[in-house]
Amino acid sequence: MSDELHAEHQEGLGDAEAERFWENHYSRRERVWSGRPNPVLVDVVGSLRPGTALDLGCGEGGDAIWLARQGWRVTAVDVSATALDRAAADAATAGVSDRIDFRQHDLALTFPSGAFDLVSAQYLHSPIEFPRVRVLREAASAVAPCRLLLIVDHASVSPGSWAAPEETLAPLDLDPDEWRTERLEAREREATRPNGRRATVTDNVIAVRRLAR
Ligand SMILES: C[S@@+](CC[C@H](N)C(=O)[O-])C[C@H]1O[C@@H](n2cnc3c(N)ncnc32)[C@H](O)[C@@H]1O
Repeated sequence: MSDELHAEHQEGLGDAEAERFWENHYSRRERVWSGRPNPVLVDVVGSLRPGTALDLGCGEGGDAIWLARQGWRVTAVDVSATALDRAAADAATAGVSDRIDFRQHDLALTFPSGAFDLVSAQYLHSPIEFPRVRVLREAASAVAPCRLLLIVDHASVSPGSWAAPEETLAPLDLDPDEWRTERLEAREREATRPNGRRATVTDNVIAVRRLAR
């Protein structure tokens, strides 16, 4: 998690409401993310045949819009109405509104129904109390047979602490008779920090395929 998010969390201590925290996070800035899709998503999904996708914690919609442009029908979920409004406006500009269903959910409370060809959780981190393991298990349950769950995490979830990709995968308790692990790796990439400085960051990448039933 970024130092900036940590600072906001300190400001908001005692306020455990995800919607309030993330609304504040988005509405105090004109724009938070670049609008570009996440590189791992492009790498892993770019060669797949488009189908239905669920984007969990879609933010301002960079991934959802990219997926829609590739021909996917996307359900894109976030707790922040401001983020979703920005995403919907960008989707309209990109001419892909008809392929994206933006929905506001606090994933700690409600989860979209349905089975999807791709379920994507890109940096679904929160400094607010968040039942991440339960939500990621629900994400796995929403994957259609033969299809993919893709999780990308910051390897450094809080300053100075590091996690390995196995630490995300293991608590999901996925039955090896039902799931095949396709990627389980830590990857480095160059990123620009909010202060404009370039840095090498590490992502944990977990891609698991549900086997046919
Ligand atoms: C670190 S951002 C990542 C955004 C986007 N996936 C990306 O890669 O740029 C985490 C996102 O998850 C959303 N989020 C956090 N807690 C949530 C919750 N309880 N329910 C739904 N979305 C949540 C936030 O609003 C935010 O957009």
